[in-house]
Order: sequence, then C-alpha cells, then structure tokens
Amino acid sequence: MSSQAARLVVLVSGSGTNLQAVLDASADEAYGAEVVAVGADRDDIEGLARAGRAGVPSFVEKLSDHPARDAWDRALAARIAEYRPDLVVCAGFMKIIGAPTLAAFPVLNTHPALLPSFPGTHGVRDALAYGVRITGCTVMLADAGVDSGPIVAQEAVPVLDDDDEKTLHERIKTVERSLLVETVGRMAREGWTVTGRSVRLGRSGG
Ligand code: GRF
Repeated sequence: MSSQAARLVVLVSGSGTNLQAVLDASADEAYGAEVVAVGADRDDIEGLARAGRAGVPSFVEKLSDHPARDAWDRALAARIAEYRPDLVVCAGFMKIIGAPTLAAFPVLNTHPALLPSFPGTHGVRDALAYGVRITGCTVMLADAGVDSGPIVAQEAVPVLDDDDEKTLHERIKTVERSLLVETVGRMAREGWTVTGRSVRLGRSGG
C-alpha cells in the first residue's frame, strides 16, 4: 500500500458490506486510500470478520463498558486516534459520533435515504411508509446531530410497487456502496472544502 494513501478508520455495527466495498477498492493503489483499522461498538459482527479476513486491525468499544456516554465518546476517540486517520468513515455504525471524535477528525457517514428526508435508524422503513416514489442514499460529513451534517454526495433509487423494507434497502445498498467508494476515493485523492453547508470536492473547491 502506498505511503501516500489517505488513512481510513472505518466504523461498523453490522454486516459491513459498505466496509467490504471500500476494502476491495483500496486494494488498487490508485484508489488513494487504505483502511488502517476497523472499529465497532459490538462484538461478533460480520464487519469485524471482514476486517480480520482482510488482515486489517480492529477494535471494539462498547457503550455498556462505560459509566456514561461521554466516557465512551472519549474512549472511542482515543481508539481511533491510535491509527492516525485522515478520515473516519461510519459505514453502518449505529451510534452518533461524539464531540471528541468530531473535534479530532473529519468524519464521513452514509445513510440509506435522501437527506434531509428520513434521517435516523429507520430511514428505509420511514420512506416506504411515507409513500415516496424516489428515495436513495446520502454520503455526508458527520456533525453533532442525527444525519444532519453537510451533504457530500447523493444518488436516487426508485421505489417499486412491490418493495418491502428489505428489498428496497438491498437495492439502495447496491447504489450506496458505489457512492461511498467513489466519494471516499475522491475525498482522498482530491481533498474537499466546506463552506457553510456546501461541500465541494477538489483541491480548489471547484
Ligand atoms: C447501510 O445502508 C447504512 O447506510 C445503514 O446500514 C446499512 C449498513 O450496511 N445505516 P452494511 O453493514 O455496510 O452492510
């Protein structure tokens, strides 16, 4: 792996197919980013197994091992910091990132809906229940809120008449994985600028 590659710490809580897509992309040195560690908030998830199979170090920091949320926030930031990331990527990480991590690193997040519609844990279910005909996925910078940070990239996915939550989420995830891989790669290779809520990829922000 190139010493020039941007260092990524990827956080997961589940199956880790988004993580896998980034791992696969980073096998090509031209991608410009490498996963230097995978972090999780729970044991025994496929996301951690994927890290193991890829030979990437991993760590688990559980909320239940701490007396209070802010202690967990600090512990998570310290674990991440050990790997000196250029970018932290939440790929299906089911916790809000706290101030210590946000203050130390840029944090990217991915969500299976077209924000600002349907933020939160049940974005796919909520979009379906509302009856939208088009939903999609959003890659955004994390802030202190729930899926409320500046948007970096979005892609639309149509809702089909016979969709249920599972079929729709799987179709969104296919698009989401490509969008995340493309966005992380461009951020790593080209940099980005944030002006208010507006994010522009590229060295000059153009
Ligand atoms: C993704 O759709 C992510 O946006 C959502 O949970 C899913 C994670 O999938 N929060 P995976 O663990 O990457 O397979």
